[in-house]
Amino acid sequence: MLGSALQYDLTELEGLDILSTPSGPILAAQRLAAQAWGADSTWFLVNGSTGGIHAAVMACCGPSDALIVARNAHLSAHNAMVLAGCTPVYVQPCCDKGLGIAHHVSPAALEAAFEDAQQQGLRVAAALVVSPTYFGVMSDIAGLAAVCHSRGVPLLVDEAHGAHLGLHPGLPPSALQCGADVAVQSTHKQLSAMTQGAMLHLRGSRVQPQRVRRALQLLQSSSPSYLLMSSLDAARHQALDPAAHAEALAAATYARQQLGSLPAVQLLSLEQVAASDSWSGSTCCLSIDPLRLTFSLQKLGLSGYQAAAALEQAHGVVAELATPTCVVLAMSIGTTMRHAEALTAALRQLIGEHSNGHSSSAVCTASQVPQLPPPRVKLSPRDAFFAAAEVVPAGQAAGRVSAELLCPYPPGVPAAYPGEVLTAEVVQQLQAVMQQGGTVTGCSDGSLETLRVVAGA
Ligand SMILES: Cc1ncc(COP(=O)(O)O)c(C=O)c1O
Repeated sequence: MLGSALQYDLTELEGLDILSTPSGPILAAQRLAAQAWGADSTWFLVNGSTGGIHAAVMACCGPSDALIVARNAHLSAHNAMVLAGCTPVYVQPCCDKGLGIAHHVSPAALEAAFEDAQQQGLRVAAALVVSPTYFGVMSDIAGLAAVCHSRGVPLLVDEAHGAHLGLHPGLPPSALQCGADVAVQSTHKQLSAMTQGAMLHLRGSRVQPQRVRRALQLLQSSSPSYLLMSSLDAARHQALDPAAHAEALAAATYARQQLGSLPAVQLLSLEQVAASDSWSGSTCCLSIDPLRLTFSLQKLGLSGYQAAAALEQAHGVVAELATPTCVVLAMSIGTTMRHAEALTAALRQLIGEHSNGHSSSAVCTASQVPQLPPPRVKLSPRDAFFAAAEVVPAGQAAGRVSAELLCPYPPGVPAAYPGEVLTAEVVQQLQAVMQQGGTVTGCSDGSLETLRVVAGA
């Protein structure tokens, strides 16, 4: 272990390959990670946050339970429900009409989801939200935890994009520091672990460690890669040095200031995020990851895809994500002031080249995407997964039960999960998004001429 104060005995090496109940150096490295992130227990994960989200849900929910889950959750949350056999109760995230993207889940929306579950006679065993989002927006985790804890329910946070949070005074606090019971982090995203390296942190007694262990034993390899595990330990060691974050934070502050001074650039701000919240407004305690820059060049008539392609091709600036409306840039340990200067210069040049731009047909906003009524769930995620499926023309899909997870971008919130009844509005929304230059993920037919539905339902 790097920088370890813990000693281990080589006679403890037996059983090292079992990640769920480790001993020796793996146990010692996990304990150091728990100390670093303020957890009572930490487990190393060798299948990314995906495996951790599966384990967290399986540790809390069984087939007779309900999981309150953010509608913009990652695919792994849906697959976790297939594994656990539980019933979803969806909570809608706040949607940004200008950018056509989903942001945080507000405590008031979570309250409403609990009431919804109660009306359906469901026993809620956990709630799961994504924070930060891909766009760097963090929910009011303390507020969400208070809503959950007042009902004795644990709050699970998909913190895949937030392994760095809370490790430096210039960074916002982590989900665990704000009261979450479980946080799952992709250490390979914002920190320097090798791809697939991630961690599950547990705090408090609302989630039983033995159930996490049991789920991890079921889900993970009994021969985890030592390279991966060592890289998790090394990433922890590096990230605990405040100096490691200092330059990236300075570079991000500089880039934010520069972008903010360019009238053509619309940088996602906290005010904009708060304005998307029709539930809580200013009473919600939100934040934005300073190392994520989400911006749009819509004023130049450039879609996010066009802006990202131009930045990469002409200037070597590679975006983390592009949508029809915006570009997301991720900074992290290793980002330097030179990177920030190069980004600013690239944007200035791009703006110069397009300053006479006209509105692009590819630019699409959420205001063009209708708000759909809540879906009718016919089959649980698990039953839908095992059901026989057939392909029908899209025009005949209304009234049938979807066998695929259909997620339009924008707004990145699934229009249909497997097991939900497709309506004419859902099909129209998906087709409209495609026509406006967006994309639909999860469909087996990329043209959307046909859809996969559950046979005989
Ligand atoms: C919000 C979110 N959660 C979970 C995951 C899965 O993480 P991993 O790739 O580490 O399995 C991702 C991956 O991009 C993600 O964006």
